[in-house]
Amino acid sequence: MPKVTFITAEKTTVEVSDSSGNLMEIALENNITGIGGDCGGVCSCSTCHVYVRKDWIERVGLPDSVEKDTLEFNSHYQPNSRLGCQVEMSDDLDGLVVEVAPAE
Ligand code: FES
Repeated sequence: MPKVTFITAEKTTVEVSDSSGNLMEIALENNITGIGGDCGGVCSCSTCHVYVRKDWIERVGLPDSVEKDTLEFNSHYQPNSRLGCQVEMSDDLDGLVVEVAPAE
């Protein structure tokens, strides 16, 4: 099962081994500070906002138009932003590192 590392806004590093599901679900299960998941993963709240480390962007992929629209309403949007609920972990993403974006 793939490993993912979250770096919180307070710079706490949390490694999650044997992750499954999307990044929002994994963060909630592991009490990652700063991830809310308020809309339940339907791409409308951006409380699961993360920054993908630059060396992972290509493998993680870019947001679709619906996700991008939601992200662009967030004042902390950056080109490497993703909504955690839209990034499904897989063996291809083993070792992924994401930073939790600041709260709105
Ligand atoms: S949980 Fe609401 S946008 Fe991801």
